[in-house]
Amino acid sequence: MNKKTVRDIDVNGKKVLVRVDFNVPLNENKEITDETRIQAALPTIKYLLEQNAAVILCSHLGRPKGEFKTEFSLAPVAKRLAELLPGVKVKFAEDVIGESAKKACKAVKPGQIVLLENLRFHKEEEKNDPEFAKKLASYAEVFVNDAFGTAHRAHASTEGVTHYLPAVAGFLIGKELDFIGGALENPKRPFLAIIGGAKVSDKIGVINNLLDKVDVLLIGGGMAYTFHYALGGRVGKSLLEKDKVDLALQLMEKAKKNGVKMLIPVDNYAADAFSNDANRKLFKAGCIDDEWEALDIGDETIRLYTEEIKKAGTIIWNGPMGKFEFPRFAVGTNAVAKALAESDAVTIIGGGDSAAAVEQMGYASRMSHISTGGGASLEFIEGKVLPGVAALLDK
Ligand code: 3PG
Repeated sequence: MNKKTVRDIDVNGKKVLVRVDFNVPLNENKEITDETRIQAALPTIKYLLEQNAAVILCSHLGRPKGEFKTEFSLAPVAKRLAELLPGVKVKFAEDVIGESAKKACKAVKPGQIVLLENLRFHKEEEKNDPEFAKKLASYAEVFVNDAFGTAHRAHASTEGVTHYLPAVAGFLIGKELDFIGGALENPKRPFLAIIGGAKVSDKIGVINNLLDKVDVLLIGGGMAYTFHYALGGRVGKSLLEKDKVDLALQLMEKAKKNGVKMLIPVDNYAADAFSNDANRKLFKAGCIDDEWEALDIGDETIRLYTEEIKKAGTIIWNGPMGKFEFPRFAVGTNAVAKALAESDAVTIIGGGDSAAAVEQMGYASRMSHISTGGGASLEFIEGKVLPGVAALLDK
């Protein structure tokens, strides 16, 4: 990474504003159901405390659209953070630019933490309003961005503040860029990408960019049926984007031109209703009967994909192979996760659904890297500039 990090700046005795991504899922009792993102921010927070900095944390949670809504409060996160950092004073400010925040940020001492309330309770955050950014910046002397999950957003707390404070990257951003960027730029070959998910339209940029880099590309999930249809197949009631047929053909053409081995499923499990309990039947790909909806890859596809995974040196996976929320149609996604867990390759899981699937199946610790960013990792793999990273000081 060519950006300065927390190691490149003196923070001793200073107040440091740290943008983290504490956008964690909460249940109806406001309990955190997955604290991965909090855990992922700890190395930077601990390092800053060890360096005798006063740490002012800020984050968004959900999409409250510029208004205070109690279900989007970061209070449960402050409580959990205090449990994870025994002996460290963690003060929760009940606002962002109001009296509570000002008082807490004025009082915070080296070795202590303040967590501000949800940034998105102010519409100025997402509008990247300079005055709002200036107010945030006024709390501190240094800015650290460690919110990889939000690095694709040019918001006041990711891009705006960098105009007013020396701005460097935290360890999580460094790790994400090193793993994903390293795979894209200097992969151990064969370099394999597995792209799934519901729609081709969501992944066009990603597939396009990967076709310039990978040796093998495996397609799965709902998007595969648009490829089958484009080749003249019958897809029954399966997901289909008719307006993306030409694009699917172009992507296959590009794969051929670039010498990329691009595989689409050769068989699929389909359901006679959109339900886990529906009847399940195996079809040859592109031969799905009218009343059936394909919801998973089939046995032969699993076999072929597993063979490719075994041969790979580097693997990037983004998007499930089927409707994995229905256990009877999670077989393909499970099989891919298992094959990755057993592989000796560098295995990188894009955030979102594939990360959730890997966690759910208990394979998380066997992957080289699971990204904390869904949208951010996709945009990075697409080759786009991440504004939250671009704005940081160059090395
Ligand atoms: C995420 O969950 O992907 C990040 O926290 C970004 O959230 P957003 O899509 O609401 O900007």
